[in-house]
Amino acid sequence: RTTVIRINQSDFKPEELLPAAQSLAAGGLVAFPTETVYGLGADARNARAVRKIFEAKGRPSDNPLIVHISDIEQLESIAATVPEKARRLMEAFWPGPLTLILPKAAEIPDETTAGLSTVAVRMPANPIALALIRLSGVAVAAPSANLSGRPSPTCADHVIEDLSGRIDYIIDGGSTSVGLESTVLDMTADSPVVLRPGGISVEMLERVIGPVQVDKLPEMGGNTVPKSPGMKYRHYSPKAEMTLVCGEPERVADTINALVAENRAKNRKTGVLAASETQMSYAADVVLSPGSRQEPEAVAAAIYRCLREFDDQGVEVIFSETFPEEGIGLAIMNRLKKAAGGRMIRV
Ligand code: TXA
Ligand code: MG
Repeated sequence: RTTVIRINQSDFKPEELLPAAQSLAAGGLVAFPTETVYGLGADARNARAVRKIFEAKGRPSDNPLIVHISDIEQLESIAATVPEKARRLMEAFWPGPLTLILPKAAEIPDETTAGLSTVAVRMPANPIALALIRLSGVAVAAPSANLSGRPSPTCADHVIEDLSGRIDYIIDGGSTSVGLESTVLDMTADSPVVLRPGGISVEMLERVIGPVQVDKLPEMGGNTVPKSPGMKYRHYSPKAEMTLVCGEPERVADTINALVAENRAKNRKTGVLAASETQMSYAADVVLSPGSRQEPEAVAAAIYRCLREFDDQGVEVIFSETFPEEGIGLAIMNRLKKAAGGRMIRV
């Protein structure tokens, strides 16, 4: 049985989180809100508890987890060493949507890091997440709280849909603010490498530590081995087949409308994902907009909700506009490309 606890993130008492925190400390599984997406947490040092995360999600066991902390002192028992540049990033962006890859300490079991000698760590900015971690007294290993392969959850209903009956607690703290997963930055190479773009943009990182590299999204079906094991799976995906169409706006609209007509003629339920500015140009069965091109943060926050909505409405093929790849736009496009499994048409 799964217990749902509702918490008002701007006005709550830590005691309200006590049953969930005790469950975590005792090896249970607890889904909780962070500022990015909901996480599915377990005690990072308890190998048995961590194995249950992989079972509940149906996650491949070679995909390592992020260890979440509430206080900087916890780092000592998680990372073997912390480079100076990593310290500066923590000072600038923690708590917040930045995950750092560091050499792992001996106390962290192989289950948490999928056997790697490195560990991913972050301090989330959501007050419920911080209070829960602190109260539990443990570092919390947590992937996104979705079934493997589905879009990450940005509200408790998404978690309930995917994991109800499979875990001990779900803390409902409302919608997440960033809406896309944290930036994953590898600090173990000679120069830092972004393995997954996210809430903290490349531009923001470079203002603090100078140049960083960005790992290219591995080509689907290609034989390059990604540095971040999670990047090789086609996840963040709706059930429908999705195709991105990029180019000059009018040509994009014409192309998408032609593709929609072609698919409707075959009796397929069609969907279009478009910016609010151009949403009116489309004649599909379901047209959804994550927001305005002028507000990329709002677009990021709404993308996963849109992808789930297409699924809920039984859409079979989705065509999507693209967004500029600057700032948070790099993360938006990274998730859209993955949801599309690399299908992109240039017009
Ligand atoms: O915003 C987030 O990061 C959310 C919330 C819950 O904190 N968590 C999240 O976790 O997105 P997950 O498991 O869905 O994604 C973790 C990513 C995966 O791509 C994984 O391969 C990578 O981080 N990762 C974890 N440990 C790693 C390591 N030691 N080396 C390289 N990549 C690692
Ligand atoms: Mg995930």
